[in-house]
Amino acid sequence: MNMLTLSHVKKRFGDKTVLEDVTFSVPEHTVFGFVGQNGAGKTTTMKIILGLLEANSGEITVGGEKVRYGDTPTNRLIGYLPDVPEFYSFMTPKEYLHFCGELTGMSSSSIKARTTELLELVGLSNEKRRIKGFSRGMKQRLGIAQALFNRPRLLICDEPTSSLDPVGRREILDILTAAKEHTTILFSTHILSDVERICDEVAFLHEGQIVLQESMEKLKREHASIGYEIELEYPEDTAKLLLAFPSIKKSNENHLLLERADQVQTEAVLRFILEHHIPFRRFEKQELSLESLFMEVVSK
Ligand SMILES: Nc1ncnc2c1ncn2[C@@H]1O[C@H](COP(=O)(O)OP(=O)(O)O)[C@@H](O)[C@H]1O
Ligand SMILES: [Mg+2]
Repeated sequence: MNMLTLSHVKKRFGDKTVLEDVTFSVPEHTVFGFVGQNGAGKTTTMKIILGLLEANSGEITVGGEKVRYGDTPTNRLIGYLPDVPEFYSFMTPKEYLHFCGELTGMSSSSIKARTTELLELVGLSNEKRRIKGFSRGMKQRLGIAQALFNRPRLLICDEPTSSLDPVGRREILDILTAAKEHTTILFSTHILSDVERICDEVAFLHEGQIVLQESMEKLKREHASIGYEIELEYPEDTAKLLLAFPSIKKSNENHLLLERADQVQTEAVLRFILEHHIPFRRFEKQELSLESLFMEVVSK
């Protein structure tokens, strides 16, 4: 089942069209990467899903129910981490989560249990400091805990890793992976290595449209190998290989590219190198990165 669907969503600000025609769907229990450059319209899309902004046209469903602009009932199914989360900075993380729990009307024993569980999940159990002394990474982690408080079926995170260092990013990605067991996650980013690490599915938003939506498994399968890079010890040996294998290309004096080669061709080249005792530094499989795929798609 799809947890979220967007169908022909259009959004204009004045005479500027930000979302031309956005259609994509997020299957249940996936981590879904919503990718786009700065200004592509990711935050706008998320705000429309939350009923915080009104679309000019199109339809959105969450858990099969239609989203309405304003106080949409579908928000009871959603946990949201905005791009710049705001907290009461005089509170400790525990006090803050208690406060959030009280707003939901849960019993105080459930609030306590849920707070303990979530502080554990985001690695803030022993943090006694007030939020105002927190690093960005700690604030993002607390924000995820808050967004998960009500056990949402859909967790929406707007660029949760963008302002973090590699360690902070890793922590967030690990938390999202753990949270996936209980919820579906839509997270926006422009960092493609984050998508490669944790996403099951990805959609690229570009110039107001979804230019690609695909499962990571399929992307990896279809674009798995684009060939081999060969680095020889001596530039003078490149001619031998170029002569023997017309399909090989020279990229610089001792670098060669064997593009889109199958197993038989690859083995033939390797055998030639060995039989002719050609010293080499590297014979490496080249995999297409999501980054180069994105560049390819957006430069069309
Ligand atoms: N309230 C608004 N009024 C006018 N333009 C806006 C408003 N909100 C966003 N925009 C414009 O819409 C475009 C998309 O913004 P945004 O959704 O924030 O992109 P992203 O989150 O992908 O970086 C940007 O050009 C931005 O300037
Ligand atoms: Mg944004």
